[in-house]
Amino acid sequence: MDKLLIEGGVPLRGEIRISGSKNAALPILMACLLTDGPVNLSNVPRLRDIFTTLKLLELLGCDTEFTQDRVRVAVRDLKSEAPYELVKTMRASVLCLGPLLALLCRAKVALPGGCAIGARPVDLHLKALERMGARFELHSGYILGECDRLRGAHINFDFPTVGGTENLLMAASLAEGETILENAAREPEVRDLAEFLNACGARISGQGTSIIRVQGVSSLRGCDYRVMPDRIEAGTYMAAAAVTDGELLLRDCPFHELDAVVFKLREMGVWLEESDDAVLVRRHGRLVGVDVTTQPYPGFPTDMQAQIMVLMCLSEGAGSIQEKIFENRFMHVLELVRLGADIRLKDRTAVVRGVKGLAAAPVMASDLRASASLVLAGLAARGVTEVQRIYHLDRGYERLEEKLSAVGARITREKG
Ligand code: EPZ
Repeated sequence: MDKLLIEGGVPLRGEIRISGSKNAALPILMACLLTDGPVNLSNVPRLRDIFTTLKLLELLGCDTEFTQDRVRVAVRDLKSEAPYELVKTMRASVLCLGPLLALLCRAKVALPGGCAIGARPVDLHLKALERMGARFELHSGYILGECDRLRGAHINFDFPTVGGTENLLMAASLAEGETILENAAREPEVRDLAEFLNACGARISGQGTSIIRVQGVSSLRGCDYRVMPDRIEAGTYMAAAAVTDGELLLRDCPFHELDAVVFKLREMGVWLEESDDAVLVRRHGRLVGVDVTTQPYPGFPTDMQAQIMVLMCLSEGAGSIQEKIFENRFMHVLELVRLGADIRLKDRTAVVRGVKGLAAAPVMASDLRASASLVLAGLAARGVTEVQRIYHLDRGYERLEEKLSAVGARITREKG
């Protein structure tokens, strides 16, 4: 398994262009199943999860092409089964459920297993689709779904589930009649999916708010669409500028989709200034600890929790992080402690006391954002930090070493 070697202590200086959003591109690619003409996407990041999704689309009967950041998808002859071998490598595969039911009135999708950060059930997806007339049974690890025809329904999510909202947006786009999604997820990636579906001829309104209305239509056409930039990648590089006491200009940065993160970074003593489509980030003086609670959008995103924790490790005073979205998203804590961090866990709260500095050690990545936090810690730690199992990183950060090396980081990948 590959590992990263990072020599810390170098202030990062220069310009980084933010890539397209993984968490917007994945549902948008699944939504291509719904179209009766070719789709041309741009600003698609070259990530493992994207290649996995394209493989799934091909298994489901689509032709796909991926050249630089441009993807072309054309549905040829739709099939209804998403196999376990593929779903187990990427939970987001469950997002094909809504489209398959809408189009074929049947679906056989492997039940996604849990993952490092939690059980991650899909009960809210199934309950909402049942309201639209779908019937499910679980059989040898597969979700078997069928329906006569999906009908519009009034749905109220127990929790504003991102994937659940996305599955239902896709299902409702071709259902009969109107669907209302209450307590819908407001994440920018959900909004991007809705905009894409509307560009294909869907009739969706209210995206970005907690009440979304969908008028079902009879078909959706292909279209050209540019995927939004990745706000979590942008937040991660903001943290990189701060932990290394450097200065970064982030191009194509979705600054206004990061209000909660920008607010907390400024509270800690990070300076951020927007100009055109770029954001200048640096810190002035010592960082101070803050209290963070992860929430559904527009609250502080759970996908930035591990990254801001590294800033807290190097801040004056103490701070706390309450993880309210996932039940087990602190695997990076013990790895950061190996680097000299002072962090105590109690239930789903981490209390972080700032230390003067971190010292290099071999550490192990456990999930995508935990890996990012270990890279950030390595950039700040004295000595050469070895981050193992970095295949997690390759799922969500495009050309990470290249982008960091271009702004001065001493980082190399050792093929394992
Ligand atoms: C999406 O996951 C993102 N993934 C996650 O990003 C992100 O952390 C998460 O939203 C929250 O923002 C993609 O977009 C591909 P949820 P998703 O459904 O859709 C519970 C990353 O690092 N829940 O909003 O799975 C669930 O267990 C990844 O890029 C149910 O109980 O998130 C969790 O505790 C990690 N039943 C909470 O809701 C359900 O049916 C949030 O889940 C669905 C969810």
